[in-house]
Amino acid sequence: MRGLGFAALSLHVLLCLVNGAYSRRTSSYVRSEFPSTDMPLDSEWFATPKGYNAPQQVHITQGDYDGKAVIISWVTPSEPAPTQVFYSKEENRYDQKAQGTMTNYTFYDYKSGYIHHCLVEGLEV
Ligand SMILES: *[C@@H]1O[C@H](CO)[C@@H](O)[C@H](O)[C@H]1NC(C)=O
Repeated sequence: MRGLGFAALSLHVLLCLVNGAYSRRTSSYVRSEFPSTDMPLDSEWFATPKGYNAPQQVHITQGDYDGKAVIISWVTPSEPAPTQVFYSKEENRYDQKAQGTMTNYTFYDYKSGYIHHCLVEGLEV
């Protein structure tokens, strides 16, 4: 047992040394020590939205290769909800609608919220 532990430790040290020999610094940026000052964890931007089942973790990602689509994603924490995005070129009109998909998963005891992804395509560049 001790021999095996020593062998595992030796292998770990060896791999760290080999890895260190090949790693290079690519930027002069050095992240400041925790806690972060530019993005404090108690910022209002990280607060859980108010209201039952209100969308959380909303984010936008690129939806195609030529800039005419985005994927809007969010989580509804408590129960399934429609995966629809209403949009328009004009503010407060929202006469266009995109339909997306919703999924959820379990991992051992963890039960995810309801994860929504909606592709909004045919946008103008
Ligand atoms: C997904 O959510 C539904 C509705 O709450 C639930 O019945 C189902 O067990 C969930 N599926 C997984 C894989 O967690």
